[in-house]
Amino acid sequence: MQLADPCGVPWVRLVLAVSIDGRLAPPEGGAAQLGGDGDRHALEQSLVWADACLIGAGTLRAHECTCLIRDPQLQQSRVVEGRPPQPAAVVVSHQADFPQHWRFFQQPLRRWLLAPSAPLQGFEQWVPLAQTWTERLQALASHGIQRLVLLGGAGLVADMLRADVVDELQLTLVPALLGGEHSWVPADQRVMPAALARQGAWVFEGTESLGGEEVLVRYRRQRD
Ligand SMILES: NC(=O)c1ccc[n+]([C@@H]2O[C@H](COP(=O)([O-])OP(=O)(O)OC[C@H]3O[C@@H](n4cnc5c(N)ncnc54)[C@H](OP(=O)(O)O)[C@@H]3O)[C@@H](O)[C@H]2O)c1
Repeated sequence: MQLADPCGVPWVRLVLAVSIDGRLAPPEGGAAQLGGDGDRHALEQSLVWADACLIGAGTLRAHECTCLIRDPQLQQSRVVEGRPPQPAAVVVSHQADFPQHWRFFQQPLRRWLLAPSAPLQGFEQWVPLAQTWTERLQALASHGIQRLVLLGGAGLVADMLRADVVDELQLTLVPALLGGEHSWVPADQRVMPAALARQGAWVFEGTESLGGEEVLVRYRRQRD
């Protein structure tokens, strides 16, 4: 259950497909497509729910595009509620300029940039990169974003987890063992806040069989 946030920040749902050994990309990296049809459906349901998606610039550089709701009926379900057919795509970066030939810049959605300086081209909205994640999320809320899907990748996810601003985990477990360095939380020396490790920090919300041997698991952050 989602609770109103007294800080006025959006609810943040992390949506990732991860291998059994916790990788989000194969050892060679690049544009990873780990999930099958069931995962795709679960992803689209989250996109229907979301006002916007957050994407790390590393993921955008790897794919040169972002995830769209493909199902016209799902797009229509948003339109009848008075919402745009697709959630806005918010790219997080220290850069202001991206190659305009990327498919991303032709995709039918609103492109926003969360960065220190204004974009040179290709984005409809600039959200200045404030000091903290709480301030950044407050800025997104001031633009009407209440439900945010965090699409990764690992660098951005780790940053937001360390700031303890992720409210919900929606992980699709994909039946593959990939090995390599691309864990969904990077295996570096930095530790997570103790509050995220303690018992009771994450409340189990349920699982869903997605078919094709994939399982979706949900946890909600319990703050007190
Ligand atoms: N399996 C899945 O569900 C899934 C989902 C998403 C991605 N992936 C995979 O993950 C890989 C990419 O992950 P990644 O870790 O390399 O990249 P990433 O997390 O997508 O992007 C990292 C970049 O995001 C920007 N960034 C992150 N935190 C920031 C902050 N606090 N302030 C400003 N900018 C910030 C920086 O961009 P600048 O360098 O431009 O400053 C940083 O270099 C790809 O292989 C992709 O296919 C898999």
